[in-house]
Amino acid sequence: MLQGKKIVLGITGSIAAYKACYIIRLLVKAGAEVQVVITPAGKEFITPITLSALTSKPVISEFFSQRDGTWHSHVSLGLWADAMLIAPATASTIGKMANGVADNMLITTYLSMKAPVFIAPAMDLDMYAHPSTQQNLKTLQGYGNHIIEPGTGFLASHLEGKGRMGENRCCQRLPS
Ligand SMILES: Cc1cc2nc3c(=O)[nH]c(=O)nc-3n(C[C@H](O)[C@H](O)[C@H](O)COP(=O)(O)O)c2cc1C
Repeated sequence: MLQGKKIVLGITGSIAAYKACYIIRLLVKAGAEVQVVITPAGKEFITPITLSALTSKPVISEFFSQRDGTWHSHVSLGLWADAMLIAPATASTIGKMANGVADNMLITTYLSMKAPVFIAPAMDLDMYAHPSTQQNLKTLQGYGNHIIEPGTGFLASHLEGKGRMGENRCCQRLPS
């Protein structure tokens, strides 16, 4: 169903970033082409080498790739993709997306995106329940984005509650 589809996968600085590897495996196995765009904080959680090995493509993170006058084009990515999935999406990235704070490659790519956007929040239960997070998610939904609701259960903080990213649901929600 995802055969030949071009997916931009945004990865942010959440402990759930390791689950992005599993998402890439599922997408690649289904025949999709995956381009990872990762925030600087995301790279603290998962290495670009792992992601580029899984996608067979260099990972994009910085606006200015080398100090030689070349740059990565968020506009081209916005035109290239059939869908954008941000998984995991931190509270910080969700806030920036809702407010157009375009200070990294992931947010500028999101703002340039012509294709449907799917957002999979992943965070601790109190961060997820906070009125600002909930308001930002409502705002993003109002802009036509699709929110992949997190599940309830055991969290990385060792607490229990709502905030777990459902990696299987992420792939199921993408347009075929
Ligand atoms: C160990 C650790 C785990 C974290 N996990 C999360 C998380 O699951 N969700 C979240 O919203 N923030 C989490 N954070 C905080 C983010 O990394 C921080 O807000 C960062 O600025 C997010 O940047 P980004 O959204 O640009 O990637 C975590 C921080 C640490 C140190």
